[in-house]
Amino acid sequence: MSPPTGPAGLPLLEREPEIAAAAHAVEGLFGDTPSGGLLVYRGAAGLGKTALLAEVRRMGAGRCTVWSARGGETVTSVPFHVVRQLLQPALTTRTPAEVRELLGDGYDIVGPALGVAPPGARPADPQGVRDGLETLFRRLAETLPPLIVVVDDAHWSDLESLAWLASFARRTAGPPILVVVAYRSEDAIGECAHLLRALGESARLLVTLKALTSEATAKLARATLGEHADDPFCREVWEVTGGNAYETVELLAKARDEALDPVGGSADALSALGAMTRGTGLIARLEELGTTTTRFAWAAAILGTDISLELVVSLAGMGPTEAADSAERLRMARLLVGTDPLEFVHPLIATAVYRAIPPATRTAFHGRAAWLVSRSGRGAALAARHLLEVHPDNDAELVAQLREAAAEHLAVGAPDAARRCLERALLEPPLPRVRAEVLYELGCATLLSSPATTVGHLRDAINTQLLDESMRVDAVFRLSQALTHNDQTREAAQVVAAEAARTDPGPAQMRLKAAHFLWEGVQDTEDDGRARSRRLTRTAAGLTGRDNTERVLLMLRAFDATARGESAEEIVQIAERALVDGALAPGTGWTGTSWGFEPPALLALSFAFADQLDRAETLFDEGMRAFEISGWSGGHLAFAHTLVGYAHRRRGRLADAEMYLRESLRLADRVGDRLPMHWNGICMLVDTLLARGHVEEAREAAERYAFAPPYASSLAIPDARSVRGRLLLALGRTEEAITELEATGRALTLRGRHNGVVAPWAIDLARALADVNPERAAELASYARDRAERFGTHTAIGVALCCSASLTEGPAAVGLLAEAVTHLEASPCTYELAVARVEYGIAARSAPDLGRGRVLARECGADGLVERARQALDDLRTAGAPGTA
Ligand SMILES: Nc1ncnc2c1ncn2[C@@H]1O[C@H](COP(=O)(O)OP(=O)(O)OP(=O)(O)O)[C@@H](O)[C@H]1O
Ligand SMILES: [Mg+2]
Repeated sequence: MSPPTGPAGLPLLEREPEIAAAAHAVEGLFGDTPSGGLLVYRGAAGLGKTALLAEVRRMGAGRCTVWSARGGETVTSVPFHVVRQLLQPALTTRTPAEVRELLGDGYDIVGPALGVAPPGARPADPQGVRDGLETLFRRLAETLPPLIVVVDDAHWSDLESLAWLASFARRTAGPPILVVVAYRSEDAIGECAHLLRALGESARLLVTLKALTSEATAKLARATLGEHADDPFCREVWEVTGGNAYETVELLAKARDEALDPVGGSADALSALGAMTRGTGLIARLEELGTTTTRFAWAAAILGTDISLELVVSLAGMGPTEAADSAERLRMARLLVGTDPLEFVHPLIATAVYRAIPPATRTAFHGRAAWLVSRSGRGAALAARHLLEVHPDNDAELVAQLREAAAEHLAVGAPDAARRCLERALLEPPLPRVRAEVLYELGCATLLSSPATTVGHLRDAINTQLLDESMRVDAVFRLSQALTHNDQTREAAQVVAAEAARTDPGPAQMRLKAAHFLWEGVQDTEDDGRARSRRLTRTAAGLTGRDNTERVLLMLRAFDATARGESAEEIVQIAERALVDGALAPGTGWTGTSWGFEPPALLALSFAFADQLDRAETLFDEGMRAFEISGWSGGHLAFAHTLVGYAHRRRGRLADAEMYLRESLRLADRVGDRLPMHWNGICMLVDTLLARGHVEEAREAAERYAFAPPYASSLAIPDARSVRGRLLLALGRTEEAITELEATGRALTLRGRHNGVVAPWAIDLARALADVNPERAAELASYARDRAERFGTHTAIGVALCCSASLTEGPAAVGLLAEAVTHLEASPCTYELAVARVEYGIAARSAPDLGRGRVLARECGADGLVERARQALDDLRTAGAPGTA
């Protein structure tokens, strides 16, 4: 390999360790077990980051696929700008049909972000887009020579690309890919700095570049100006530039142009030249080139990157001859390179020129640029970055353009960019009615990413009193959704109730009423649950499911009946009425925006608890698929994993359940820390780990996700306090457990909720009190049995019978357990059956039954139960029981 060279024909000076690290990383792509990873170079402007990246590219040339991109100061607001550059070589060499095939299922999700598919009508989930991009890179990398992804000036990257890069760099699976990123530390601010820090944390190497020493600058001086450059002169170069590579190179080039004698006596001239290479000096140099040329440079700086000659010419408002002349002058002055597109020689120059444009002129330029860009067919989203710079001026047209851009941003999965456009539109300000709509749109833009912000915007929109009825109802419903997702379920219920009260009877009011039932029903605690249940029962009584509002009401009714422990048979009938030909009707599905995913989830859970696990699983799987297809891979996908995990838990496939539930939490972790969406996942995980007998792991998980009071504002499945009580019992914290279980029992009973499978508090409490308060224990056990029989599923009855048995001994216990086994054999819940078999084996001192129980427990992955059976078998053997020899 030939040594790397800098501008003066010298190797890059004092960068040996950085270059060696890069070489090592590139070689890693070709090792026996090829490895990729992330290298990050950061440092002040002009220290040589771009030069190092050029080096990496050179190392990969010929044997690797190298894709490069850079952020641009003026395009930071253009979503996926960097990603699009990276993929350009892969996408532009393919026909549209080939691109479609390449993207496969992800076409509708990442296609719009990449600009190869038209934006869809619905907002794309940013997480889904990031995941889709990751799949695409992986797929491409699998068929290409080892891939190196180079991103320069990442401090100016658009946030969407950077967020993707940060998650991409953390990926662990797939073909090895080397990612090399450089950024200016001082220019990284806000969210960008945050993402870059995250990036740095996952880097295998994070290097901060230092300025060159006086020795290195002397070498550069002599290589540029000749060996006769004397020591005092070289020393002066270093003092003027502080060892900054960019300034050194520029200063020496000037000195050469000016034929400066490189000796100590030229010190003053050197300082003067130094001033010209940056800031005001550079601008003075530009002004000397004349007003037309300056205007041309300004126009170029407004466009920033991808400086198309045609656009500069239109923007600067000059004829082709003048333009050609200006471009030539700027090239001569080492400010621009290229012909079409043009490019600034160095980003530092672009910045200096841009900042030198008088503010009023700059704004006017941006306004014109927005117009030119959208007229040139480059799309509203690209024009938007110019619109963002224009001064507010009551311009209705500008508001319309910004709203259009926001819609486009949303459709490509860039809600933050959409938010910026809409916030800017508000400053214009728009006419009052339009302002109300913009506020509503702002709320919708942040719905997937930030419930708290959404709440504010939607409240503002509603408070204007200017939304038309359908938009208003929609805004109220979305507000209630956002409140729930923001752990304010009670407020959610209040908001829809208040709105329902002021709406005339009709479909809109019905929708609000249904929403009210929904949020009240899923609240963790409720003031008058029985009254609400009665109202819901009355409302749903005659419904046949002829429209979506009716169907949703039936779904809610089915779940409420489940929580109350009404007859499972009737619950199934109600639930069936909520379906059309056995399936969710369009508009009431998992990705429906009018109702959200809660109603179908509650419906599917109702089937699950009614022992109709097949139907529940079909619905859960459908939810998972729907979220995947729509690219909703943030909170939604996390939730779908929770549900599928819980179906496994009910089936008794505990290891699978654990896997799904852990994955659900991992997915939720990507969205944020300890969010309401973690709540169900952690509750089910603790329940599953306890069933497995992995008490310590359950404790750890509970601690990590704060599965303790204060409880979330919406309920968890199974009942969170019951599960927590069970955990405390397993940990030997009996007193606390009893308090917890008594409390949840009181609250649920008061609310009219008596389902012992959804909330198994009574069963655990009976066992906990068996010795200290046998009377109360017996009372609880018979309560549990009574309620189980009213609910009427084999699972509920079997489990309650096991509980009764645990309070008795001898033949009575054996009889109860035999009955429990019979019931549970007819139930789909294998783990509960395994428990009953083992307990029966113990009570009946039957080795064959214990053996069968143990086999089943092992199949379930219930390690604690396996151990219990083994020990019981050992005891029998020791006691010489028949059949144990
Ligand atoms: N180690 C080095 N030895 C010699 N010349 C160097 C060295 N590093 C950079 N240079 C030269 O200095 C100039 C500026 O370097 P470069 O553009 O890589 O800086 P940068 O850190 O990318 O700056 P910016 O932050 O503005 O993008 C270039 O002409 C480059 O070739
Ligand atoms: Mg650079």
